[in-house]
Amino acid sequence: MIRSEQGWRDDMTTWTVDQGGAWWENGRLALIDQTRLPETFLVLYPDSLEEVADAIRQLKVRGAPAIGIAAAYGLVVALDEAAPSAAAEAWAVLEQAADTLRATRPTAVNLAWAVDRVLGRARATAPEDPAAIRGAVLAEATAIALEDRELCRRMGQFGVEALGEARRILTHCNAGALATGGFGTATAPLYALHAAGEPLWVLADETRPLLQGARLTAWELHRAGIPVHLIVDGASGVAMAKGLVEAVIVGADRIATNGDTANKVGTFNLALAAARHGIPFFVAAPHSTFDPNMATGSAIPIEERSSTEITDWRGHRLAPEGVGALNFAFDVTPHDLITAFITDRGVLRPPYTESIPAMLGAVTA
Ligand code: MRU
Repeated sequence: MIRSEQGWRDDMTTWTVDQGGAWWENGRLALIDQTRLPETFLVLYPDSLEEVADAIRQLKVRGAPAIGIAAAYGLVVALDEAAPSAAAEAWAVLEQAADTLRATRPTAVNLAWAVDRVLGRARATAPEDPAAIRGAVLAEATAIALEDRELCRRMGQFGVEALGEARRILTHCNAGALATGGFGTATAPLYALHAAGEPLWVLADETRPLLQGARLTAWELHRAGIPVHLIVDGASGVAMAKGLVEAVIVGADRIATNGDTANKVGTFNLALAAARHGIPFFVAAPHSTFDPNMATGSAIPIEERSSTEITDWRGHRLAPEGVGALNFAFDVTPHDLITAFITDRGVLRPPYTESIPAMLGAVTA
């Protein structure tokens, strides 16, 4: 693993917000180490399959589209590491790498979607030697990364339309640039409105236990000049009751064809609070986050992570010794609590059993 540490002043990095959290740079996969933000801006260049897989497991790269991009390029990293001498050997390396990458995190469907798409398209071009196979894999991974930037831009446009006059926006976790290959999903309309000179105010849930809202969303929005205040996760109800929230926008990790949506734990509670206050609740996600094989949310696998993420903070025990914790990393928001989906193909409204399959049927990528 090669590291490029720029410790840390904002003007010391050339990272731009449309660059996303993972990209290909001079023949290498580059990842922002999101566990180190906001204190340190560290770019990682993993040069083995295990390093890519570990970066995904440890949330150094995180967010559904970004882990899809990292996994897609991770297949190239696996080939470069193994240096196969024959085509059959190269395919075997890829199959094993695909299994390893798919198993790193279970909830975000973008991961398996990206891996399957790269392998499927690479096989379809019928390359005959390891160099040609690598070329085909890299070409498809690059297509996914570049497309994601465009999908974010389109979600921004459609999101502006969906938001209407709402300018006081609550968001959860980080569905921002760091989590994608571009401007983010939930943040894309925010960047678009800000660029248009619209006065915005964002409330960001801190997002226990790993503080993606406090560390990452606050970092990227503040850096872009968008006014942002943090609230603790449990404060969304009072913020809504005080009239501080005109709309909620969150991202998603997997969306069933009936609209049930898995996203960072706490999203379901937020949707309930929004419904109680009559506040529109939007989910912004590209087509790659919709799972055509999942009819309802009940079968979506919910990642459970180490209890120490809750009981400890960076090596310091917070909870009494001997007390356990249940660390569900995601929850499923029932479709009837979702006002609309902001996708790269347009704004989807209920009934989702009609609008989602219609949108997916139109997807050719
Ligand atoms: O555990 P994380 O930080 O990967 O969870 C991320 C989320 O829940 C995001 O909202 C989701 O992946 C969408 S990112 C555009």
